[in-house]
Amino acid sequence: MKKMQWLAIVACLPMVMWVWIACTSVAGEKQPEAKAVDSAVAKPELIVIDSADMPDGKFGDLVKYGRELMMRTAYYIGPEGKNGKYLGNKMNCTNCHQDAGTKPFSFNLMASHANYPQYRAREGKVLTLAERVNNCVMRPHNGKPLPLDSREMVAFLSYLKWINSYIPKDQHYLGAKNLSVDLPARAADTAKGAVLYAANCARCHGANGEGQMRFDKATYDYPPLWGQYGYQPGSSMHRVLMQAKWLKANMPYDKATHDKPFLTDEEAIDIAAFVNDDTRHKRPGVTDFDYPNKEEKAIDYDHPPFADTFPAAQHKYGPFKPIIDDWKAKGLKASY
Ligand code: HEC
Ligand code: HEC
Repeated sequence: MKKMQWLAIVACLPMVMWVWIACTSVAGEKQPEAKAVDSAVAKPELIVIDSADMPDGKFGDLVKYGRELMMRTAYYIGPEGKNGKYLGNKMNCTNCHQDAGTKPFSFNLMASHANYPQYRAREGKVLTLAERVNNCVMRPHNGKPLPLDSREMVAFLSYLKWINSYIPKDQHYLGAKNLSVDLPARAADTAKGAVLYAANCARCHGANGEGQMRFDKATYDYPPLWGQYGYQPGSSMHRVLMQAKWLKANMPYDKATHDKPFLTDEEAIDIAAFVNDDTRHKRPGVTDFDYPNKEEKAIDYDHPPFADTFPAAQHKYGPFKPIIDDWKAKGLKASY
């Protein structure tokens, strides 16, 4: 990042504690607009990246290519990729990590470069960031891993490093994590989810979750939610609570925002349950399942063995509170 920009961010920090920072404003917009200042509590900020401000030189070229790869993944490394055939489907990273990983509350990737290597419960070992990128290439993209020394992998990592440079060290920022959902006392209801899906989602993602291809069939205008070309089971998006938290801030695409979600928590959970109900449809298969230590398994991951006696269906659809209470009683920390 350019020095000036850093100075701008750093200069803004002490001035306001609760501010929607747009120091690095989106194309065309001007300088930060400070909203209500709360002097008592430091709250996280919203950090917006200006993609026009990418660095120059060799590193800059990689950053730019990395951003391109995030946005047009299928075009470059999809099944008919221009620069390599790695992915098994034509989705793009930005379909879930929106705005190439910089949109708040949308599986934001701005902290990832600083957060890896990191212990991951799903694999039961420490992963590098490159291995974590390859995890998403393999699932949800149903692909084969990028060689670690490929230009594509180096570009992904360079881009992630660059977006990370916007985050002051150890700084919390708004939207680093997705929104949370309140857990209903009942199990998620796939029948209710079906009705809600038809009313709110089918117009873009299709009645059968198949999405809508772009005119040239190279990728999607609206990505698929299930079927042979959707994400696999074992992808985090396949977990009902994980998906519901993301839906709340982001879908329907033209209606939801993180500060004004469109779906209620229960609606988001019912829809996620319907989308992920694989009894109605096929998804690409996965051969091996994860979480070698069942005490570290996310509670909404429905593949046995479990660290409790609740059935697989309850791990998929809930009610989740009894599971959480059971884990607490055993001194285990439930994650979802
Ligand atoms: C179908 C949705 C989806 C797509 C497409 C997708 N991801 Fe992900 N990705 C996720 C989810 C869900 C997580 C897990 C988030 C969590 O654990 O909170 C994740 C996690 C990650 C992480 C780890 C983030 C962290 O800080 O721990 C990286 C890096 C990542 N993805 C990169 C990519 C890249 C690169 C692509 C494209 C090749 C991609 N993802 C495509 C859904 C997706
Ligand atoms: C106006 C069109 C539109 C509507 C309505 C809409 N979506 Fe989306 N959805 C999109 C687009 C576009 C993306 C890709 C986002 C991007 O690339 O930035 C997306 C991405 C997704 C993804 C992640 C990518 C994938 O294919 O797995 C999921 C899951 C999803 N939508 C679910 C839903 C659900 C559930 C609803 C209804 C509550 C919904 N969407 C309503 C347009 C829409």
